[in-house]
Amino acid sequence: MIMNDSSEQQSEPGANPGLSIAERGARTLACLDYLNEAISIFDGELRLLVWNRRFVELLDFPPDLLRVGLPFAAVIAYNASRGEYGPGDPQVQVAERVRLARAFQSHCFERIRPDGTVLEIRGEPIAGGGFITVYEDITARKHAEAALRESHERLEARVHERTTELLALNAQLAQEIEERRRIAAALGESESRIRLITDTVPALIAYLDAERRYQFANQKHAEWFGQPAESLLGHTLDELLDPLLARRLQDHVDAALEGRSTHVEYEWITLAGRRYVRSFFIPHAPPQPDSARAVVVGCFVLSEDLTEYRQAQMALNQAQKLKAVGQLTGGIAHDFNNLLTIILGHLAMLEEGLRDNPELHKSAHTAMNAARRGADLTRRLLAFSRQQTLLPRLLSPPQQLQEIAELLTRTLGASVELETEAAATVWNIRVDPGQLTNAVLNLAINARDAMPNGGQLRISADNVTLDSAYATRHPDVVPGDYVRLAVADSGCGMTVDVLERAFEPFFTTKALGAGTGLGLSMVYGFVQQSSGHVRIRSQPGVGTTVELYLPRHVPRGRETVAMVETPLDDSHLRGHEAVLLVEDDPDIRDFVARALTSLGYRVHEAADGREALALLAMPQALDLLLSDMTMPGGIGGHELALAARRQRPSIRVLLMSGYSEQAVAVGLPAECALLEKPFLKPDLARAVRRTLDRPPAGPVADG
Ligand SMILES: Nc1ncnc2c1ncn2[C@@H]1O[C@H](COP(=O)(O)OP(=O)(O)OP(=O)(O)O)[C@@H](O)[C@H]1O
Ligand SMILES: [Mg+2]
Repeated sequence: MIMNDSSEQQSEPGANPGLSIAERGARTLACLDYLNEAISIFDGELRLLVWNRRFVELLDFPPDLLRVGLPFAAVIAYNASRGEYGPGDPQVQVAERVRLARAFQSHCFERIRPDGTVLEIRGEPIAGGGFITVYEDITARKHAEAALRESHERLEARVHERTTELLALNAQLAQEIEERRRIAAALGESESRIRLITDTVPALIAYLDAERRYQFANQKHAEWFGQPAESLLGHTLDELLDPLLARRLQDHVDAALEGRSTHVEYEWITLAGRRYVRSFFIPHAPPQPDSARAVVVGCFVLSEDLTEYRQAQMALNQAQKLKAVGQLTGGIAHDFNNLLTIILGHLAMLEEGLRDNPELHKSAHTAMNAARRGADLTRRLLAFSRQQTLLPRLLSPPQQLQEIAELLTRTLGASVELETEAAATVWNIRVDPGQLTNAVLNLAINARDAMPNGGQLRISADNVTLDSAYATRHPDVVPGDYVRLAVADSGCGMTVDVLERAFEPFFTTKALGAGTGLGLSMVYGFVQQSSGHVRIRSQPGVGTTVELYLPRHVPRGRETVAMVETPLDDSHLRGHEAVLLVEDDPDIRDFVARALTSLGYRVHEAADGREALALLAMPQALDLLLSDMTMPGGIGGHELALAARRQRPSIRVLLMSGYSEQAVAVGLPAECALLEKPFLKPDLARAVRRTLDRPPAGPVADG
């Protein structure tokens, strides 16, 4: 509805000539009814001038309220009375609004009606006074805006919430990462510590999983494979070991994986050589949280190297065996010497008495030669059993080697190339020079035999110190300074079996008659008797080195000069002195007595120490005590010598022995001479004469 009481009919230039201004105004006003906004216009006197239909609908005016000229205050008063402006005094509300309208200014504001409708109210002044007010229902927009805002806020809140959550999560994650890093570092550290420990302990440690594959190996374990430990990982035993050994060990791994601990000892040819090993296989069954029964998930393999222990044990066995054989051969040789003394003595007399019967003389001579060979054999047996008489002298090894080399060039064929080497700084030794030469000769001949087509023979001397670790491996060694004499050849070498038996007397690989098997036995006995140590290193097809370790001589005070023996001619061998002969073997006693009598001596015989003491107590003159060393009845040659010299200080003493170890062991008095059995009449004659011709010794001390 358009309320317009203006009825002017003037038309404007350019306008529809058929319509007056009033008509056009009325139509324009009528158009206002089609607007979606509510409109009201008040004039300068604040009276209602124009409004449209929407104004009535939107603001809910009763149809009879509005009229042209209605005062602004009346409209406001109506609104205030129906609570349109909210709580408060309606008069104050009206007065306030009227006052504002009078001093009219452009404005735009929102008002919420009691029914919740939201209005946007814009007011603009009109030229010539009054104002137009446009009302728009913005409830829907407002709701949409509110919903949008609310959803936005919800979103914001959600985003905020999520962000907070994420930040917390991030912080937790960072903490977890840090924790993990710390654990990894600790694990790494602990692992490297465990590796250090396992690499340091002298055991071989490995771990195989249920698939029988290496999961761990310490350095020592890997060393035997000649590979870094990592390269073993993932492999099985049969990929790494000789099939036979792998199968043997596999059985133990299987047992361990079935939950049984086992161990095994075996031989393993590694890159480092032949090893004796003991391995323990221990099941690994960690406790299972969800099961009462532990499940075996792998096995630990702990191995120890028994090589040194085994070698020491073998060396000890060898030394003990050789010692036992030595005692046996020594005993036999001793008895043999006694027999040979008789045989040789009587044969010599026979030979002498049979000069007129060439036939029988020849037989006696042949028998004599055979007996001499027997004596030579016994001497060598005694050498092995460390019972030969040694005459140690102070020697300079380089000088000794020089002499031996000269001897050797004549003995060895042209096909053997000889080389000797000994620095002047090599320490002195104190051994029997004859026996040393003999030993080196024996070794050189062995070397020559091992090189039938020629080769190199190298003899050298150097200084070595054998420490306690070495002595542990070689039980016959006393730690200390030694001179090492090495005889090395490039010959056929020895197999392990030959090497193990080489020192045994009568062990030979040579053809019947070509070797007696006593060469190395003698060398062994001689070196042992000289407080040394002998060792063979040999490899088939490569060669052999025999090393003699002879103790360094440490001078103590003034060195005693070895007595030079002046040869005696036969005319001096006779004598007239009185000899007390003490010998338990009647045959030897008979031979010696006859020999001495034939040389002019006066002989008193005694069968043992007791008889001899009785004779010594008698007043007759006695110039020489000639006694056996070992006799039954408790009084041996040594005791007898002391007793005799106590009673008769000027008496000379000559002891006979086939068993010189005793002489060495009990410490033969310096004034006593020694005659080794077996001996021939000339040996006896020389020894007796030389002893009698010695200047008288001083008085003997008691004890
Ligand atoms: N240099 C060497 N090279 C290889 N084998 C050796 C060597 N020396 C010794 N043998 C072995 O050791 C064995 C024993 O040696 P040994 O010297 O004791 O006796 P033999 O030489 O056989 O006889 P004999 O020395 O009594 O004449 C020899 O038969 C030989 O098999
Ligand atoms: Mg030999």
